[in-house]
Order: sequence, then C-alpha cells, then structure tokens
Amino acid sequence: MKRILIISVFAMIGLAGCSDKHSEPNIEPVQNMMKAPSMKAQGEDLDAPDKRGMRLPPEGTVPQGWEPYAVDDFDVANNTVKNPVPASKEVLAHGQKLYLTYCSVCHGTLGAGDGPVAPKMLLTPPSLTSEKIVGWNDGGIYHLITRGRGLMGSYESQVPKPNDRWAIVHYVRHLQQNNKK
Ligand code: HEC
Repeated sequence: MKRILIISVFAMIGLAGCSDKHSEPNIEPVQNMMKAPSMKAQGEDLDAPDKRGMRLPPEGTVPQGWEPYAVDDFDVANNTVKNPVPASKEVLAHGQKLYLTYCSVCHGTLGAGDGPVAPKMLLTPPSLTSEKIVGWNDGGIYHLITRGRGLMGSYESQVPKPNDRWAIVHYVRHLQQNNKK
C-alpha cells in the first residue's frame, strides 16, 4: 500500500510537468539543465583560461570521418596515390557542390583561374584546365587540395573526408574535359 502511494506521488509530480497549453511554461522540477549558461560561437568565455568560448579539440583527437594522409611529397602522390572513388553522376554532382563552395572563389566556376578573389591575390590562382594540370594524375590534384602549396592553404580541415576531396578531383577532371584552355 505504502509503495503504491509513493509511486502515485512520483507519477503526479511527473505529470505535473505536462501541459497541453503551449502558451504556459511547464513546471520544471529540475531547473539546472534548463537554465545552463550557453556560449555563442565566437563568443567570449571569461571562465576559460584563454577567454575563448569555442574550445580547441583535446590533443590527439580527430574529427569524425578523418583519415590520416601520410604522403609529404608531391611527386610521390602524383605517381602512386590512386583515386579510390569511381566516377558517377552522383559523385560529380557532389564534387561540383564542394568545388563551388571551396575552390571557385579563386579558381573560377569553370576552373579558368578567374574567381572573384583572384584579382585581389598577390599570385593569381592558376587555371585548373591548363595542359599542366590535365597532365597531372588524380593523386597530384588530391595532394594539392590536402596539403596546399604556397599561397593556397590546405583544404583538409574544410573538406576532412577523403572521398569528398576525391569527388572534387573528379569535378576538376570534368571541368578539364569540358572547358579546355
Ligand atoms: C584563396 C584562393 C584559393 C582557393 C580557395 C583555392 N586555391 Fe588552388 N591555388 C590558389 C593559388 C594562389 C595557387 C598557386 C599556389 C602557389 O603556387 O603558390 C593554387 C594552386 C592550385 C593548384 C595547382 C595549379 C598549378 O598550376 O600548379 C591546384 C590543382 C589547385 N590550386 C586546386 C584547388 C582546388 C581543387 C581548390 C578547392 C578545394 C582550390 N585550389 C582552392 C588559390 C586558391
């Protein structure tokens, strides 16, 4: 009897939190989680040692889907790293989306090196449809996206999944076939 009484008291407390009137706030028996302080992206956190609201990832951790890329030398990559992703309509569409997001500002929508940022750069981004890049293997283009070179930074953190970078390589090939310069 006593147990039933205790259970019903708990059930009543639980149900007291439910309301079908959405304009009225529910009863919040435990408020700590509802009222927890929240950080805005780029915001300041006065309690953090470096005052940054956004934390650096713990040392030795990697983003989901990230795979180490161990090749340091361009020629090694160009000659030995093979494209593991077969070309398909879907891969091309995906590569196009990524290319337009991450590459076209400099290299132009058709890869001619004439994106809107290009005139403002010290070194004009080269055309990706030149004889030179047409002559590179997929591994070379992949290496350049992953490692960057000179004034072009690495795009590994913006495009962390290897297959996404290979999709961009396919799209660059597509641009080369359709817009030779
Ligand atoms: C901020 C502008 C910028 C963006 C964005 C950019 N690049 Fe570049 N890219 C450059 C510049 C500048 C160079 C020349 C680098 C150097 O030699 O100093 C270059 C070089 C290259 C080269 C070698 C070209 C050659 O003739 O040697 C390839 C391939 C390339 N980029 C592909 C890409 C791809 C693919 C993306 C998108 C993931 C991308 N780039 C994003 C500016 C950019």
